[in-house]
Amino acid sequence: MTVQQDIQIPAIEIAGLAKRYASRSGGTVALRDVSLTVGRHEFVCIVGPSGCGKSTLLKIISGIEPPSDGLVRRFGEVVTEPTPDIGMVFQAPVLMKWRTVLDNVLFPIDALGLKRRDYIDKAQALLKLAGLEAFAKSWPRQLSGGMQQRVALCRALIYDPPFLLMDEPFGALDALTRDQMNVELMRIWSETKKATLLITHSVAEAVFLADRVLVMSGRPGTILEDIRIDLPRPRHTGMRTEAAFMEHVRHISSLLGVHD
Ligand SMILES: Nc1ncnc2c1ncn2[C@@H]1O[C@H](COP(=O)(O)OP(=O)(O)OP(=O)(O)O)[C@@H](O)[C@H]1O
Ligand SMILES: [Mg+2]
Repeated sequence: MTVQQDIQIPAIEIAGLAKRYASRSGGTVALRDVSLTVGRHEFVCIVGPSGCGKSTLLKIISGIEPPSDGLVRRFGEVVTEPTPDIGMVFQAPVLMKWRTVLDNVLFPIDALGLKRRDYIDKAQALLKLAGLEAFAKSWPRQLSGGMQQRVALCRALIYDPPFLLMDEPFGALDALTRDQMNVELMRIWSETKKATLLITHSVAEAVFLADRVLVMSGRPGTILEDIRIDLPRPRHTGMRTEAAFMEHVRHISSLLGVHD
């Protein structure tokens, strides 16, 4: 393969994906005919009604859940199992209660068999960025839900992952902290331009962050529309009241059946 062809291979490529969960009562079709791509330097957000299969989709991309039909390719390779190099932030923060905050952030380094001393400065810098530098030695149970979610975000960023998957990373935060985290995430992303797929319930958050917003239907979930957000970068919170921003929010909200 030539270098030129290699550059064109997307970070994530999904074709004809379906997911059925079996159960005694007949099972659930969570996803049907989902096809999408995330380019190597793209930030893509997914919005959709509760229960439409968004978390399921992320779990399939990460290799945690197998698809029922269709294929997921990461950098051209078909996904068959979970790998430890994925930067994933789950909907609920999954921290290890027997590890301190700092040791939770360093967990991927231990799991990958890398030298922790090479990553301690970075872990502390990430905790500072997330406003948690005073909590490095705390236990997860001593943190609020929002703080735990910020630790999970630091953990996803500690090892330079090939791409980031985030499932409502800021859902548990208050509005002000959420806006600050959005700006921080944008800043980190503009430095690394890492392929990112982020799920959110907030249409405004999706428009603020994304190069493209994918709108999903109700269950079984499929992509209803793929909307390019051509707002200039860097983005700042003042843009949220500009006409172009509000028009995207209005359009996506109407697709979701949400009205002001
Ligand atoms: N492990 C599982 N076993 C059986 N059914 C499941 C499982 N995980 C999810 N489901 C079902 O699949 C559907 C999609 O669930 P999923 O968690 O992917 O939705 P979601 O879009 O992330 O919702 P939310 O916005 O509320 O987080 C739901 O009907 C759910 O009950
Ligand atoms: Mg979910």
